[in-house]
Amino acid sequence: MSSGPELITSSNPQLPCDALVVGAFSQDGTAVLASPIPGLEEAAEEQVKEAMTDAGFKGAVGSVLLLPTFGMAPARSVAIAGLGNRSGATPQQVRKAAAGAARRLADRVEIASLLHSAVDGSEKAAAEGFLLGSYRFNKYKADPSASKIQRVSFVDGSEGALRNGSILAEATTLARDLINEPPSSLTPKLLAERAREIADVSGLEYAAFDEGELQERGFGGIMGVARGSAEPPRLIRIRYAPPGATEKVAIVGKAVTFDSGGLSLKAMQSMMDMKTDMSGGAAVIGAMSALPRLGPNIEVDAYVPAVENMPGGRSLRPGDVITHYGGRTTEVLNTDAEGRLILGDALALASEQDPGAIVDIATLTGSISVALGNKIGGLFSTDERLSEELRNAAASCGEAIWAMPLADEYASELESQIADCKNVGSRYGGAIIAALFLKAFVKHGVPWAHLDIAGIARSDKDYDEISKGGTGAGTRTLIHWIEGRAA
Ligand code: BES
Ligand code: MN
Ligand code: ZN
Repeated sequence: MSSGPELITSSNPQLPCDALVVGAFSQDGTAVLASPIPGLEEAAEEQVKEAMTDAGFKGAVGSVLLLPTFGMAPARSVAIAGLGNRSGATPQQVRKAAAGAARRLADRVEIASLLHSAVDGSEKAAAEGFLLGSYRFNKYKADPSASKIQRVSFVDGSEGALRNGSILAEATTLARDLINEPPSSLTPKLLAERAREIADVSGLEYAAFDEGELQERGFGGIMGVARGSAEPPRLIRIRYAPPGATEKVAIVGKAVTFDSGGLSLKAMQSMMDMKTDMSGGAAVIGAMSALPRLGPNIEVDAYVPAVENMPGGRSLRPGDVITHYGGRTTEVLNTDAEGRLILGDALALASEQDPGAIVDIATLTGSISVALGNKIGGLFSTDERLSEELRNAAASCGEAIWAMPLADEYASELESQIADCKNVGSRYGGAIIAALFLKAFVKHGVPWAHLDIAGIARSDKDYDEISKGGTGAGTRTLIHWIEGRAA
């Protein structure tokens, strides 16, 4: 759960601790220490080199070799964390190495680290790595088996970088906690309550439309999807408005708290992970929670449409026509293409404020994972500058996104005989078609980007800074983008 180890700085390289983390680069097929091990005699350093060779440790990024010091150093053991290649080494490698070390050292309490000294400007990434690598969602376990790491001391670290890294990691773990929560414990109503608490403690403005207001104001997409569920929908709104901000942007996150597919019911296998269908909303809420602490001088309006998509006697039927907020109509031919229906409403509402840009984030299509797999998210945009900003933001925090075409060639896929559009086209190019559907709801002239994170929102395994289950993907990209925009 979200409270991870404490990160502090220390000027003492010979700190007594359970384990000292030192980086090692891989060079010509062998591992080379990034820095000497403080307190170890030269002779012992030779033995460390031998031990690395004997263990076949090559310094691959994320790999860790744990060696006892037998009382020869103030640290009880040395954890050598592989950093990968030295030439052109980046903070991204340090983040992965720190996460690997945190996982390997989960049964230790006091850690000291020199990892950040291996690559310039990598302290924030190291902080993120230690915290994200320590993450476990164990709320529902009798034996919680949490990471035991209580403190990581960064030798000659800077407080500012550690603080920044912690804020980014905490926003991500907040998103992970929301995603990992079982769907009955995180209904739209409960998600809205959590969002309110988060807004209150973070110092953000909060408002939400309940089902009555949504009905009255004509949010036909949100109301339509919610119809089959016993759980009422919410449209959560969070605002960060620092005094003196001259620019304003909007972020929008899909929060389908459980996606059964509705009457276009999913098969058992594909339904299994559908509590994670609110990952876009979680990333938005996580990102918002970080803003007051980071203080970028820009207003950010967040919109999180939250619904449960269920089959029922009152469900949307394939063939139904709904009227979205703002008046556009959609012929719903597949009730499992529900994310676009609720996002259409939210994008139309966000557009009303004429923000300088709108970015939405959603687990929108299985098709994006066919295209990009489960380590890369899809980016669609009407604006080259915005697209570049987002790609830079993602690259700087180690989240991979790839620009996809918002190709008008496929616009005809969405032509409906009886409404402004239908909600599904051909199976091929499904992620592009979904993006084209959304585009129609954004006011002309407002730069817009869409992040399809269906492939990267959850992971089957722990690796690098990624945790099994909800990953919190996109949270840090959004924060970096907002910070970059404000700078
Ligand atoms: N929530 C799903 C997309 C999804 C799939 C997320 C796999 C995470 C993992 C979305 O609502 C959906 O069902 N999309 C359909 C669209 C289709 C009916 C046009 C899909 O991708 O199959
Ligand atoms: Mn669906
Ligand atoms: Zn969905």
